[in-house]
Amino acid sequence: MSFIRVENVWKEYADQIVLEDISFEIERRAFLMLVGPSGCGKTTFLRMLLGEDAPTQGRIIFDGAPLVAEPDASRGVVFQRYSVFPHLTALQNVMLGAELAQSPLLGKLFGAKRRAAAEQARALLDEVGLSGAADKYPAAMSGGMQQRLALAQALMRQPKVLLLDEPFGALDPGIRSDIQALMKSLWNETDLTVVMVTHDLPEAFRLGTRILAFERRRNRPEERERYGATIAKDIEIWPPRVAGAAKPFSRPGRDDPAKTGAEPGRPGFQAS
Ligand SMILES: Nc1ncnc2c1ncn2[C@@H]1O[C@H](COP(=O)(O)OP(=O)(O)O)[C@@H](O)[C@H]1O
Ligand SMILES: [Mg+2]
Repeated sequence: MSFIRVENVWKEYADQIVLEDISFEIERRAFLMLVGPSGCGKTTFLRMLLGEDAPTQGRIIFDGAPLVAEPDASRGVVFQRYSVFPHLTALQNVMLGAELAQSPLLGKLFGAKRRAAAEQARALLDEVGLSGAADKYPAAMSGGMQQRLALAQALMRQPKVLLLDEPFGALDPGIRSDIQALMKSLWNETDLTVVMVTHDLPEAFRLGTRILAFERRRNRPEERERYGATIAKDIEIWPPRVAGAAKPFSRPGRDDPAKTGAEPGRPGFQAS
């Protein structure tokens, strides 16, 4: 059974069809990259996966059950611009992930639970390379650090799927490359399924196990009311990755920089 199944999904707003009859399946542990021109409905699609918005027609089956339009902790999200809270320190921001999940009403934990959450939050800050910044406020952090923090905050809730909307798009190239490497190792070391929007094709090939391209084939103004974006390309990145097949370490052909890019069947892949 596939992990996420998108069944004939249409999304329309008042004056236009945004997505037209989208169907595909996402395997558990996939790292799916969504690409496509600006305005073709990538964010709209992600928001439906998040449960912030519902399809006009069709449905999305998430882990065996139809997805209801209601955000929940099983889907973590990081947007291009910081989803962290400015009035909380890095540690408090990460802890909030657990606090909202475990104590939705108060948003606070006490005693042993609080200590456990703090310990876990520190470990995550460590993992994303922010161990020295636990007591900093977001305003005192660079864009790259804030996105690392947003990742830690999302991961704290142990989501079954991590949704990323151009999370590294605003970062400088060097910093972007570091955080891409971090993202890849986080994914390697966990059971996470990731759906990530990017406008950066090299990034898509570097991180993804599969790339879906959305595109409007008909885009004249009078056609926008009748046709939306469809899946123009569905590219499997070689070698395929399947649930539970992998150990965190030693993945020849993917993780060995000497080999990536040299492998056949990886169109356009550039090791970076
Ligand atoms: N809440 C909304 N109401 C009306 N139109 C919307 C809404 N959200 C998005 N759109 C329209 O849907 C189209 C797709 O937007 P979006 O999903 O943000 O594209 P992308 O993320 O691919 O750049 C755009 O034309 C946008 O104006
Ligand atoms: Mg967008």
